[in-house]
Amino acid sequence: MNEIFKKAAEAAEYIQSKIDQVPSIAISLGTGSSILLDKVKLIDRISYSDIPHFPHSTVATHVNELLVAEIESVLIFILAGRMHYYEGWSTKELTFPIRVLQALKVNRLLMSNAAGALNPNYHAGEIILLKDHINLLPEHPLRGPNDERLGLRFPDMSEAYSSNLRKLIKAESPEIKEGIYIAYQGPSLETPAEYKMLHTLGADLVGMSTVPEVIVANHAGMEVLVFSIATNICYPPEAITETTLEEVVEVVNQSAPKLVELVESLLRKIN
Ligand code: HPA
Repeated sequence: MNEIFKKAAEAAEYIQSKIDQVPSIAISLGTGSSILLDKVKLIDRISYSDIPHFPHSTVATHVNELLVAEIESVLIFILAGRMHYYEGWSTKELTFPIRVLQALKVNRLLMSNAAGALNPNYHAGEIILLKDHINLLPEHPLRGPNDERLGLRFPDMSEAYSSNLRKLIKAESPEIKEGIYIAYQGPSLETPAEYKMLHTLGADLVGMSTVPEVIVANHAGMEVLVFSIATNICYPPEAITETTLEEVVEVVNQSAPKLVELVESLLRKIN
């Protein structure tokens, strides 16, 4: 475990040597969300492959760059490229970027993801604010000896999704819905019977990512806010249609301007 602390410090040192100013907030972009990059003022970009010990995404829609950008005059790290459990990364490996952000003293983490809608009141393209999650991934990122320098052995998860940050969003966008995300390992999409089970378990959205990072960010003491883009309707069973990655990306692209607006409205408030 000491390893993670040391490796994260080395990665952080490299990043610090490449940028002038270190942001204290970061956004990690999910499937299709890289389109956001067209809408922000880019200041620095570092390829994941140049950062010591950094993993990289093997998914074609993820660009694998750490960027420093300015949005609403706020300096922000953008993790453009997310690693997933289904790619073969362990949850410890795929959350390494969060440890690097921790080493860089980032204290707020925003994330976006694409997800299937289990709540029949959601429509395709709708952006939902996460208020909680259910972790069904088979591996926990904090399993094993705990390094006290990184966080507590038993981190509290009673407010894993910052109510403070959610309040700021809701003040600007009162119509936004809040939901519960369930992480299922993929990479195959779920069968109708599985979607029904996940709905019965109390989830509003299902996806293959995000939860390991949210756990590690909470362990690291960060405030977390997650936007899920509902890309395909998964419940009730008669509403399910065949889903492709292309369609998921297309829906995310259509929702990108709204996502940018939400991120901007938040950054204006915490500026
Ligand atoms: N299941 C899992 N992950 C997803 C889905 C889904 O239906 N849609 C987008 N990401």
